[in-house]
Amino acid sequence: MDNIRYDEREKKLYVVDQTLLPNEEKEILLDTAEEMYDAIKLLKVRGAPAIGICAGYCLYVLSLQIKAENGDAFCEELKKKADYLNSSRPTAVNLSWALKRMVAVAEKNSALSGEALRARLLEEARAIHNEDIEMCRSISELGLSLVKDGYGILTHCNAGPLATSRYGTALGPILLGTERGMKFKVFADETRPLLQGARLTSYELFKAGVDVTLICDNMANTVMRNGWVQAVFVGCDRIAANGDTANKIGTCGVAVLAKHYGIPFYVLGPTSTIDMNSKTGADIKIEERDPDEIKTMFYAKPMAPLGVKCFNPAFDVTDNNLITAIVTE
Ligand code: MRU
Repeated sequence: MDNIRYDEREKKLYVVDQTLLPNEEKEILLDTAEEMYDAIKLLKVRGAPAIGICAGYCLYVLSLQIKAENGDAFCEELKKKADYLNSSRPTAVNLSWALKRMVAVAEKNSALSGEALRARLLEEARAIHNEDIEMCRSISELGLSLVKDGYGILTHCNAGPLATSRYGTALGPILLGTERGMKFKVFADETRPLLQGARLTSYELFKAGVDVTLICDNMANTVMRNGWVQAVFVGCDRIAANGDTANKIGTCGVAVLAKHYGIPFYVLGPTSTIDMNSKTGADIKIEERDPDEIKTMFYAKPMAPLGVKCFNPAFDVTDNNLITAIVTE
């Protein structure tokens, strides 16, 4: 099942609701701007490249709902919708990158007829999607060249097919190597607070027949100390011009551990995740999320007193000196 699917016949956009996984594989329809905003904000669709792909199709679907045929009025309305979607999550640069790309295409072609203009927008959304497929493939090949058969690999959060298009970034080399008969022993951090590692990474790798072992985030030290990890692969949400990298909260701690044990720490992500406007990691806005994600979400009963104070940043920044290499397409 494709995680993001534009149905040409129905002219409708569907995404797999990632908050229901691994228990339910279900597509949801994204038709209104509010549904699209919520899907991104509530992590129904998540992972930096997937958010970008989804945003491209969202803007195309919304363009079909704009009354103005074409011209400035059309572009202004489209830009408003892009700004609204862009306000759903602040850290992954792929969201604004894809939206800007779509708006630029509209502005360049605003003199075309309404139908031709919208056709150009669909073409661009598809281009963003297809480029991601190519990008993942290329990152997977390059990442694979950094590891050997039998390696233990630790990963944090989810940077697999669900977070991208196909293969993924951090999981790409593992999936590609597995297809070629290589055997890896993968340790997936559960990745508190939303458990993308447990719910999504272990699900994707397990389904693909990879030897995956789920660990709690605070066990990464133990598996590294035991000598079970030869490389760390993680994805990224925004890479600053100096190489500082924002990724799911907890990534920096893994990088510090990897440095301590002399284990190479690789960041894998498309060039669209590099933001030259952020000079260093200090310029990256870190999203803070609802405390309920720590206290109640996914638990049968609250895991903490409901009134207790919580701090819930979704990302952290790993300093460039902790990163062995950044693998792009
Ligand atoms: O909050 P999320 O689940 O969107 O965060 C995702 C991550 O941090 C991923 O590692 C990153 O987006 C790369 S996905 C290829």
